[in-house]
Amino acid sequence: MLIFRMGEKQFLNLAENKQLIGAIQRKEQKLGDVLTKEEIEYNLKRICKLVLAAVKSIEIKKGHDPYKHGLDLIKKAREIAKKLNCPTDKIELIGCAAYLHDIGKSMIDRGLVNKPSQLTFSEYREIQKHTVIGQKILKPFVYLGTLVRHHHERVDGRGYPDGLKGNKIPLGSRIISLLDVYNAITHSRAYSPSRPKEFAINEIKRCAGLPFDIAYLKTFRRVYLYELSRNLTQEGYKNKILDILCKKWEFDFKRENRKSIKEIEEDYLHTRLRQERQFDRKVARVFLRLLR
Ligand SMILES: [Fe+2]
Repeated sequence: MLIFRMGEKQFLNLAENKQLIGAIQRKEQKLGDVLTKEEIEYNLKRICKLVLAAVKSIEIKKGHDPYKHGLDLIKKAREIAKKLNCPTDKIELIGCAAYLHDIGKSMIDRGLVNKPSQLTFSEYREIQKHTVIGQKILKPFVYLGTLVRHHHERVDGRGYPDGLKGNKIPLGSRIISLLDVYNAITHSRAYSPSRPKEFAINEIKRCAGLPFDIAYLKTFRRVYLYELSRNLTQEGYKNKILDILCKKWEFDFKRENRKSIKEIEEDYLHTRLRQERQFDRKVARVFLRLLR
């Protein structure tokens, strides 16, 4: 298979190369139907080895590299899976899926993936497709593909693409989902600056239904609101918060334009600070212990 004939460097460039992805898809579509179970399992082991070799070469290079995100994910995903007594072969595959989880984004418009401002509802829908596309790219690798497909599910069933709940979500996907959010908070992205580790820990606790420091998070939310208000008129600022509350995050929030800015700010803080069940509590506990 094409993917296994590539060297480390090409593999690292995989997610950036649309032409290559297209070639892999075409080849794998042909091969997918004729591969035996043994062949698929053999290939899974090889893809794991390739990923780990690539990670090792990154470690040697050190310094800045755009794949640091993937490297962190592999290490932490494997450690969590191990602590949760996963069988050894699954631990390797969970690490591998953690590395490849966003591979579907390579088929989505670059401008949209790196958009520095808030996404509109339709843009958000477009981005969501990366889970299903990722599974298609990894078609012959059934287990890897499944983990990639479900890395944005939430244990309360409000995730995507299938709205799976609790243990119906594969363990590997539950691990990747938590690590992805932790990394997104602690690293700067096109649309948001990095936040301190303590903030991320409290966010994870809040989203896993564990006790968290409300005062600490409230301060950070206020800073976010302050950042949002810069360069905007009062009306623009009010509409912006309403957009955040209504369009993307808070599906059950009712648009209420007659409210004052202060009331809308309070609504925002209230909805953003309530406890949620996005993450698996068991996975979150193991992860938080590893961070100590
Ligand atoms: Fe993703």
